[in-house]
Formats: sequence, C-alpha cells, structure tokens
Amino acid sequence: MPTTDAAWIRLAAAAAQAKHRRIAGLFDAEPQRLARLSLSAAGLDLDLSKQPWSLADLEACLDLARACDIEAARGALFAGEAVNASEHRAALHMALRAPKGSDFKAQGQPVSAEIDAMRARMAAFARAIRSGALKGATGKPFRAVIHVGIGGSDFGPRLVWEALRPVAPQVELRFVANVDPAELALALDGLDPAETLVVVVSKTFTTQETMTNATAARGWLRAALGPAADAQLVAVSAAPDVAQAFGVPADQVFGFRDWVGGRYSVWSAVGLSCAIGLGAEVFEDLLAGASAMDAHFLAAPLAQNAPVLLALAHVFNRNGLGRPVRAVVPYAQRLRLLPNFLQQLEMESNGKRVTAHGQPVARDTAAAVFGDAGTNVQHAFFQLLHQGTEVIPVDFIAVARAAEGDPAAQTILLANAIAQAEALMIGRAEADVRAELTAQGAPAVEIETLAPQRTFPGDRPSAFILLDRLDPPRLGALLALYEHKTFVEGVLWGINSFDQWGVELGKSLASRVLAELRGGPAGVHDPSTAHLIGKLKA
Ligand code: F6P
Repeated sequence: MPTTDAAWIRLAAAAAQAKHRRIAGLFDAEPQRLARLSLSAAGLDLDLSKQPWSLADLEACLDLARACDIEAARGALFAGEAVNASEHRAALHMALRAPKGSDFKAQGQPVSAEIDAMRARMAAFARAIRSGALKGATGKPFRAVIHVGIGGSDFGPRLVWEALRPVAPQVELRFVANVDPAELALALDGLDPAETLVVVVSKTFTTQETMTNATAARGWLRAALGPAADAQLVAVSAAPDVAQAFGVPADQVFGFRDWVGGRYSVWSAVGLSCAIGLGAEVFEDLLAGASAMDAHFLAAPLAQNAPVLLALAHVFNRNGLGRPVRAVVPYAQRLRLLPNFLQQLEMESNGKRVTAHGQPVARDTAAAVFGDAGTNVQHAFFQLLHQGTEVIPVDFIAVARAAEGDPAAQTILLANAIAQAEALMIGRAEADVRAELTAQGAPAVEIETLAPQRTFPGDRPSAFILLDRLDPPRLGALLALYEHKTFVEGVLWGINSFDQWGVELGKSLASRVLAELRGGPAGVHDPSTAHLIGKLKA
C-alpha cells in the first residue's frame, strides 16, 4: 500500500494527464468504462462515467482511499468510537436507522435498545396526533404542526417533508428557522391555534434563533388558549431538562444523544414532525432506506462502493483539478431543498482548514456547493456552467417515475436532465457552429464574431444519480449516500467532519452587537462595524 503522500502525488499526476484529454473520448478508449463506473446501491443508480477520470485514474484514487485506510475509519465510525475527537463523541447516526434489535454501541455504551424505544414512542405519538386520539387544549384535533428549529434541526425535516408530503395533507407541516420575524408570521398565517401543535427542535435548546421563535410561537398559543396552551408544545432535544423548563410537558419531550450531530439528526426524534405529517410508517421506511445504504457502505468493496466512489470523484475534481465549487441540481421539484441540505452537510462538516490533530491541512477541503431544481436553473446559472470561465462539476439527481401529475411533463423533465449532462460533456465545436451559420447564409463577418460565442467547450463533468421513484426508502438512501460521501472525504483530508467550531465566533459577536443595539454600552469595533451599529441604534 502506498503512503498517503505518495498516493496524493499519484492522484495529482493522474489529474495532470486528465487536463490534456476529453471525457467523451474516454468512452472509445475504455470499452468497459460505463460498466465500471455505473453501480446500483440501495435502490439508487449512480453513473460516474461522465467524470474526468480514466479507469487508470480511478485506480489511483482507490489507492488513495486504501492509503488513508478508509475501511478502518469506516469501522471506527460504525463501532461508535469517538471519531468526533474535538468533542470526544461518537457519530452514530447509523444506529438511529438500523433495523430494530441491532446492537450499536457509542464509546462502548449500548444504544440500540434506547433508540428502539424512542422510535416506538415517536410512532405512538404520531399515530395519536393523526388519529385525533391526542387533541389540543380545547378538544380539537390537530390540523397543523409548526416545526421550529434551524440548521440540522431544520434542513433535513424540511427536505423530507417537501419530498414526501401528500398534495393535501391530513396534518400540515410548516417550518420556521430564520429569526427574521417574517418567517414565523408567514408560517402562522391562517392557522387556528386550537388546532396547531408547536414542535421545538433544538439539540442544545439554547440556539438564539430557535428560542426566539419558540418563545413567539408559545406566545401565539398562549394568547389564544391561555396557560393550557403549553399542552400543545412538544420539544425534541438533547437537553430535555431545558425543554421542560421552557414549559413543555415532560411526556412531550423527545430526547436524543449528543453523539447525533445536528446535520445528521433527521433520523432521530428530530424527524418527529415528519412522522406526524407523513405517518410513522413512512418515517420508518425512510430510515430503512438509509440503513440499506449503511449496509452497502459497510460491505461493498471500495471499487464498487457508492459513497466511496462519489467521494473520490469529487476529490479528483477538487484536489486533482483544483475545482472549488460544485453544483447540485435535482431534476425533481420535490428535491428542491437538497442543495440546501447538502450545503450544511458538506460545508459545515468539511469546511475545515486544520486537521483533526490541529495541523494546517495539506490540501484544499470542501468545495462550495450550490444548486436548485432543474429545469428552473437552466434559465439561471446554466449559462455559466456551459460557457463560463470556470469548470463547475454537477451532480444531477433525477427520478424516473413521477409520483403525481402528467407523465408527459415528467418525460420532458427527464429529457432535460439527460440532455444537460450530455451537453456539458460533449459541448459544441466551433467548426460545427461555423458550418451551421454558413448553411444559414450568415455573412462571413458575422460568423467571425458569432461562432465563438455559440461554441460550447464541453468536457464539463457530472455525476448522475437516478431514483426509480421518489419514495421514502430511496430518499433515505440518497441522504445517507451523501452523508457517507462526506465522511469519506473528511477521512481523505484528515479532518474531523463532525464538529463545527467555525460557527462559534459569529454567534458570540452577535450577542455583543445585540446588547449594543438594545442600548448597552458601545463596545470596541472596527469603524465599519461601529458605523452600522450606530446607524441602527439611531
Ligand atoms: O450551525 C451551527 C449549529 O450548531 C448546527 O450544527 C446545528 O444543526 C444548528 O446550529 C442548530 O443547533 P440546535 O439544534 O442546537 O438548535
């Protein structure tokens, strides 16, 4: 096995060669290419053949994975070792979605029995709300849930709800994350407090935005229902005592452990709102799909391992070819929020500049991720993807069979996804453009200026993930695929993917500025900051 440094050097050499050839040409040179770079895992089809690597480059990437001992790192993750070393914690989100009766341990402590009990409690609570057995303070059944939470306490549940929600839900979910009072006002609009459950989700139960919104939502309930309103509060937190002190009845506090990272928490009681809105069975199916991806990640050889290969493809672009940005484009309106979810998952996990040992990293880490739903983005940033000066790799996600609506429209959607990936790779040669313009009778002087503008360089890479249907298991598998992909990248880069110290400074400075905006004494600031505070205090 090569040393890590030697493997990185080999990857860099491979990438240097890749700059001098075209992806499309590799299909002729490598008859096995499509077969070797396509795989199915947990109900997802992944095609990495439009990536810039040759099959020989893939071997160099796999050597890197071996040199970094991905298998040992994966073993430590699943064994519940303290892989989040800076916080002395395991990262055991896989235990939350494992089949009932599993035997996970977090730093040696058994956790599966407690998880099974919590899942049963969540399911019973969701059923009681949906059946109307559990009613509001005035005896009315619940028709709406206000889910209050931010970051990992929001992105996952919000995405799951949008992806799977019925068109006309029995219990509607509305989400409030931003401390901007507009979001709560819009979420509460039209709701009857007597029929609304407020679910406050916060691992710490101290997050400024969430506590501000939770207090306002509680006030909205109390204003209409009096003190009995607190019976309509539910909390999900790793700090259950703080939640109870807030006024949530003890039997409506759902806990989870500190080894569940915020951005990996949708599988825990953080998903309670989804279980209420979608039904407990749907939520369990989501967990089962994620667990199937866990099983694949754990068992598949590296060369056929979907999270490992996706990570290596992204690393080849990021480190080999120096591409600092990646686009994620779900061709599925219901997956519109996937890029937002991945922004936290990838950039909070791997946006790090020092290793887990406190040394500066030897190479670039997380790419910036952006995206939105296709086809809309074809009318926004795809111009830049096709003809901009930077090469931005794209992850396409498409769903073969629509859950609803006109199948003809779905076919148009799919045609666009496939065609965009093809267009990015093959481009359009200037000679073809010139020939077309000449055939159209364009004047020679116009052809000179127009042909370069209508040329597409191509050779722009993409990954293509195809789901047969957007159902709960496949959604679970998709999210778990990206979770493990992110973990593998973190191991390759030698960073801790499970902490997020970079969010702390802004939080503490916001507290200082807030005190000043509220009339406290002026602090020491740079002139620009002092000017802004002064302007808003005036
Ligand atoms: O963004 C920082 C962060 O700590 C995230 O990691 C977390 O998901 C979010 O804040 C919300 O935290 P909490 O669930 O404790 O309110």
